[in-house]
Amino acid sequence: MTVIGIQQLPGKPKRDHPTSVMKNQTSETKSKTMKIVIIGGTGLVGAKLVNNLRQQGHEVVAASPSRGINSVTGEGLAAALAGAQVVVDVSNAPSWEDKAVLEFFESSTRNLLATETVAGVRHHVALSVVGTDRLLASGYFRAKMAQEKLIQTSPIPYTIVRSTQFFEFVGSIANSATDGLSVRLPSALMQPIVSDDVAAVLASVAVAEPMNRMVDLAGPNAIPLDEVVRQFLKANRDPRTVITDEQSPYFGIPLKHRSLVPDGTPSRLGATHFETWLRRSTPNP
Ligand SMILES: NC(=O)c1ccc[n+]([C@@H]2O[C@H](COP(=O)([O-])OP(=O)(O)OC[C@H]3O[C@@H](n4cnc5c(N)ncnc54)[C@H](OP(=O)(O)O)[C@@H]3O)[C@@H](O)[C@H]2O)c1
Repeated sequence: MTVIGIQQLPGKPKRDHPTSVMKNQTSETKSKTMKIVIIGGTGLVGAKLVNNLRQQGHEVVAASPSRGINSVTGEGLAAALAGAQVVVDVSNAPSWEDKAVLEFFESSTRNLLATETVAGVRHHVALSVVGTDRLLASGYFRAKMAQEKLIQTSPIPYTIVRSTQFFEFVGSIANSATDGLSVRLPSALMQPIVSDDVAAVLASVAVAEPMNRMVDLAGPNAIPLDEVVRQFLKANRDPRTVITDEQSPYFGIPLKHRSLVPDGTPSRLGATHFETWLRRSTPNP
């Protein structure tokens, strides 16, 4: 995939860290394999990230409730993190109801950061969403914002990767906007990315030094939301029709034209085009 150079984003917080820690991270990341724990390592992005890092020779723990490791209850967490240099959090909440999702990301992130402190983890990487701060009418994005703030105010060095929507999420967008055989969506821009490209960027971030700021990640093209879903339904021979309706909400909240896309050029771009992914993942004509 194409990865364009990381740019310093304006206005993001920079923190001071002990020089010795940063020196250790430099030599560690350049010369050694690491123990890396992937929270949500059985999920869509998590499983791909686990494979990617294992292929690079790292010791990788795929952590999730189905593997006996739960970041909300703390089950198995201390043992999983013992001796780890890096934790990557790509978990997601089982319920997106306002209160439940907030409790998930707050409890999980607090537990992770506290356990990482005890274990001496040197880099916390988390996956968030481009435009989170513009989408706070949604309980889900308030929860993601709470997750980001806990990470930013913790003493653990971190990198937050904010990605746009995954190609694999387009079907859920369609379903959320469906009434009968009609799908009502606005033409607000989105810049979706395939989960493999997200995993590749996270793998490179995980083995690099902490940036102590956010990094935006997006797919190669900005495309109107209604058009993305139209192409998706057509490729899947789905009988539903997309009706462009600028007043239609996105998961219950209003969108502005650029709510879902990065400001300016994102620091990192996935190379895979939506049409290419559609051709290889949908039925042959
Ligand atoms: N979908 C998108 O378009 C998009 C865009 C940008 C960013 N993101 C972010 O990407 C992240 C991952 O999304 P995804 O779609 O890859 O997730 P996913 O496929 O739904 O996977 C969720 C993962 O979280 C794990 N998990 C659930 N509860 C847990 C707990 N208490 N402790 C530890 N792990 C737990 C699950 O484990 P089990 O398998 O054991 O249940 C699973 O491995 C999310 O934080 C989301 O905000 C998503």
